[in-house]
Amino acid sequence: MMRAEAYAKVNLGLRVAGRREDGFHPVSGIFQSIGIVDRLALAGAEEDSIMGTGGRPVADGLDNLAFRALAAVRAVAGSSAPLELTLDKEIPVAAGLGGGSADAAAALGLAGRRLGVEPATLATIAPQLGSDVPFCLIGGTARVSGRGDIVTPLDPLTDIVLAVVVPPVEIATPAAFRAWDELGQPQGLRIKQSALPPVLRDQGDLQNDLYPAAVSLAPELDDWRADLEERWGRPAMLSGSGPTLYSFFVDQDEAAGAVAAVPAGSRFAEACDLVAFGWRITDDG
Ligand code: C5P
Repeated sequence: MMRAEAYAKVNLGLRVAGRREDGFHPVSGIFQSIGIVDRLALAGAEEDSIMGTGGRPVADGLDNLAFRALAAVRAVAGSSAPLELTLDKEIPVAAGLGGGSADAAAALGLAGRRLGVEPATLATIAPQLGSDVPFCLIGGTARVSGRGDIVTPLDPLTDIVLAVVVPPVEIATPAAFRAWDELGQPQGLRIKQSALPPVLRDQGDLQNDLYPAAVSLAPELDDWRADLEERWGRPAMLSGSGPTLYSFFVDQDEAAGAVAAVPAGSRFAEACDLVAFGWRITDDG
């Protein structure tokens, strides 16, 4: 049995440009891995299976991005040996935290190790699985562009802890991009450079262009943002297509204080350390 941890990510900002011929939108932003973790276990089996821990249901078979990752690595390796994948999910789904993509990246890593497939080959499989998988395969702090498939690692950010809040709505990424087109490709929520933590200031203003689209799909998101900003005394930002909102704090204590001030009814609220990787193998068994 091999085990791995898969880490959630936050899009610290996301600039979006007009839709390409292939249906994807060019994006640009700084992505950051954070300490919210899904745990995966991979073992040989009599037949393929995927399950949640404690028998909890997860998307089945090839509907599950992590299982698609396993199947892709197996195909490259020329193997047909059945595999059993167990997923212990902590990352909220449909939240803009990249949980499914993180699981897929960790599954690539696990299957690559098990079947002897090189990291460079895994990197060519990643974008076929989803736009966020290339970042999750690398993780840490990176500038991401293209449709998500161009990942340029940056120095790790220091002296930052995030308070991360998932309001009680779900937003599907394709719906958010569609709404952004229908709204006439608006510019989004911005935090001015001068209001950012010092380590982020040389990256310019932070902006998420999908904010108006996310609010059009879930209007209560704007109330949550305004309420959090008042309680926290600082700007709050949307991650990706949302609905995750976050802000910057200097340490765990300050972020934990912010989490304690979050109103009741959120799907998730936690102080999250930044981490320097997207996944890691924890048991090579
Ligand atoms: O790549 P992924 O499967 O995560 O993308 C889901 C959908 O989100 C795409 O089919 C597309 O509609 C939209 N998308 C986009 N531009 C991106 C990433 C995703 O329009 N850069």
